[in-house]
Amino acid sequence: MAAEFLLHGKGRRRGQSRHPWVFRDQVEAGAASAGAIVRVVDEARRQLGWAAYSPQSKIALRFIVFGAAAECPTAASLKAAFLAALERRRALRERSDALRLVSSEADGLPGLIADQYGEAVVLQALTPFAEALLPDVVAWLEEALQPRSILARNDAAVRRLEGLPLEVKHLAGAVLPEVEIREGGLRFTVDLLQGQKTGMFLDQRANRLRFGEVVRAGDRVLDAFAYSGGFALHAAARASAVLALDDSQRAVDLAGRNVALNGLCNVTLEKGNSFQRLRALIRDKEMFDAVVLDPPAFAKTQSELEGALRGYREINVRALRLLRPGGLLATSSCSYQMPEPLFEEVLRGAASDVGRDVLVIERRGQDADHPVLLSLPESRYLKCFFLRVG
Ligand SMILES: C[S@@+](CC[C@H](N)C(=O)[O-])C[C@H]1O[C@@H](n2cnc3c(N)ncnc32)[C@H](O)[C@@H]1O
Repeated sequence: MAAEFLLHGKGRRRGQSRHPWVFRDQVEAGAASAGAIVRVVDEARRQLGWAAYSPQSKIALRFIVFGAAAECPTAASLKAAFLAALERRRALRERSDALRLVSSEADGLPGLIADQYGEAVVLQALTPFAEALLPDVVAWLEEALQPRSILARNDAAVRRLEGLPLEVKHLAGAVLPEVEIREGGLRFTVDLLQGQKTGMFLDQRANRLRFGEVVRAGDRVLDAFAYSGGFALHAAARASAVLALDDSQRAVDLAGRNVALNGLCNVTLEKGNSFQRLRALIRDKEMFDAVVLDPPAFAKTQSELEGALRGYREINVRALRLLRPGGLLATSSCSYQMPEPLFEEVLRGAASDVGRDVLVIERRGQDADHPVLLSLPESRYLKCFFLRVG
């Protein structure tokens, strides 16, 4: 029989509003083993739903299904959720053969990430529940997609918060250290074993493709946080020259390989700290027609938010200073601690600092394979503005 967890006040309201996260201090009583599926009830013992239990994380319970009538999830119902997630992404395959197949709570599988890179699939289990599910996920993947290789990139630091070890494990098929994928008309090498995230920032795909469309022939473009060159390469198809920066040598090397793979000769890559490099470019009176800012999350926790706001403002001020009149700034924040109105406020502050009129031409977010669960505001984490500078 499944363990029962009793929620009080705030926890109950979370369950009723279908927010999947229940914090430890919102639990009145309950005990279970790590990763167990438990029945969640309110003070009157009315069922709120079924959730996965994490004994070490601040988030003690993550709902899998909600409501009084919901039945305890089974291997069959979890497989159905997995297959439904794959089905929802069918249309995206036209744009790329690299896509997120499963996105955790938003696909009803708390803590499970599955990213496909061509013939390889990379899994990430960010909760004990997802960790326990991995053997089943491998079997479902083999049945549904027959990937050549399945890898677990369980080296994400957040696993520590769940008491899970950091490790990279080959789970099935061939050992592939890297694969080639396509995105729009471009080819990218993905470093499966040591690349950032699970290998690529798949969430920015639509923004990269769109950026490639709005860059004008002959533009001079700056990509200040380039990683494997995503935005830079899409821009390079039209631009006259692209400068791509990253402070990771590994990222710069990977971007260099991608430039060569696509036969581009108008991209200059530099390893360096963009905060300093942008200041130097301003000092040298360099100007650009388009700038991309896609920095890492400056705020991972609420306590880091103050400093993050300063960081975002500063980097956006510098980018705005580097733009010619009529120039384009594509600027992102992937901190879920920073909701879109707050990010917009930062951009307003940056525009005011440089004393220029700035038009919002597109307000964008994460691509559709990273769905937003309306009841989980934290799942809308990527904000991306395309701005036209006066
Ligand atoms: C969110 S990723 C960029 C992803 C990229 N735009 C893409 O679409 O693939 C952020 C990148 O910024 C780099 N980075 C972090 N801090 C930096 C800094 N101070 N200066 C330059 N690059 C930095 C990281 O190495 C990482 O590659």
